[in-house]
Amino acid sequence: MALDTKNWPNDLRAFWMPFTASRQFKASPRMLASAEGMFYTTTDGRKILDGTSGLWCVNAGHTRPKIVEAIQKQAAELDFAPTFQMGHPKVFELANKLVDTAPDYMAHAFFTNSGSESVDTALKMALAYHRARGEGQRTRLIGRERAYHGVNFGGTSVGGIVNNRRFFGSLLAGVDHLPHTHLPELNAFSRGRPEHGAYLANELERLVALHGPETIAAVIVEPVAGSTGVLIPPEGYLEKLREITSKHGILLIFDEVITGFGRLGSSFAAEHFGVKPDLITCAKGLTNGVIPMGAVLSTSEIHETFMSGPEHLIEFYHGYTYSGNPIACATGIATLEVYKEEGLFARAASLAGYWEDSIHSLKDSPRVIDIRNIGLVGAIELEPEPGMPGKRGFETFLAAYELGCLTRVTADIIALSPPLITEKTHIDQIVDTMRKALGN
Ligand SMILES: Cc1ncc(COP(=O)(O)O)c(C=O)c1O
Repeated sequence: MALDTKNWPNDLRAFWMPFTASRQFKASPRMLASAEGMFYTTTDGRKILDGTSGLWCVNAGHTRPKIVEAIQKQAAELDFAPTFQMGHPKVFELANKLVDTAPDYMAHAFFTNSGSESVDTALKMALAYHRARGEGQRTRLIGRERAYHGVNFGGTSVGGIVNNRRFFGSLLAGVDHLPHTHLPELNAFSRGRPEHGAYLANELERLVALHGPETIAAVIVEPVAGSTGVLIPPEGYLEKLREITSKHGILLIFDEVITGFGRLGSSFAAEHFGVKPDLITCAKGLTNGVIPMGAVLSTSEIHETFMSGPEHLIEFYHGYTYSGNPIACATGIATLEVYKEEGLFARAASLAGYWEDSIHSLKDSPRVIDIRNIGLVGAIELEPEPGMPGKRGFETFLAAYELGCLTRVTADIIALSPPLITEKTHIDQIVDTMRKALGN
């Protein structure tokens, strides 16, 4: 049937929805009209508590006046300026603020527009870095099962969620994967870092022996795997990955698109775990999710390796039209200032214990087979309905929404990650809602 040419707001057909069961949605829409602080308001006037920071991104809460004003002012002053062979003050200001926020060994920021672009940028940086050092044979990239690194071809290739991969052909050649670290039989209901599983990092030695260390450019992992349902690294696991990568001259990339900007109670997970990667990817919380923007942070060692050859030549043949877009930069600057002025990373750290006790109180709810947490992140894993994986999780997500709380569902796992401005009363509300949604 041809589309109606009138774009009535209640005609839902034209929008092809991302990562959505769209026929279900269009039959029964969930429409958000406005937002403030910890809450959304729906088009039919209901208040919905944001239990998932939008999509893991609104760390400072919604429609913060400082961020709104920065966008309005910037749009009226300098709307667009190229950053290829040109510059504008805000992009340098944001880069400085960002490296100040990051662990002190991170010295440079390359801007992108999303987490997916940050990941593909970091992978290309790793390949070009080795080539610049005369080790151009290092082309292999190692990801991990159950990883999510966005949806571009590089990130899809190193990613490890089967439905994100299986429909899209052979992806990048020369990619291998570490095993995931989810060991529910040993670690179910762990609080914080699980005890068992550091040995899984030794699988990297097996891949090194299989392929030859001189062929491997980089290992990329999410320090805490988010989108697959919150898999927290076992004690000692990330440390071991660092040890093995360093031993073999392999770069270690932390994909911190979710863990960046206070989610664990530190600026970045690298700082939280005290493990030093060579590159960090980020996005989401960089601009509080308000304007699309991502970044790759690099050590000065990596950056300096590129700074050779004739000075009139481009050193890194990569970039996006909107790398460092002025409005995105103004948003990022205002966001980082809000985090700092309000001490939001420390606030997340101070609430982590309350959060942990609160979500673990759901342990005895029906069909709950695991609960895990770190910082202000948590996940509740449900026993799948026989023959219908994902159904129970989706129904629980719908029930929580009907009861007034937005959560994130992946298969039969409900992930929770409230804005860092949350009060204890909001945490109580999330947990009470989940208790009802789970059928208590
Ligand atoms: C770890 C990680 N990397 C990359 C991405 C992709 O980010 P984007 O959706 O902004 O492309 C995500 C998104 O959730 C993510 O969690």
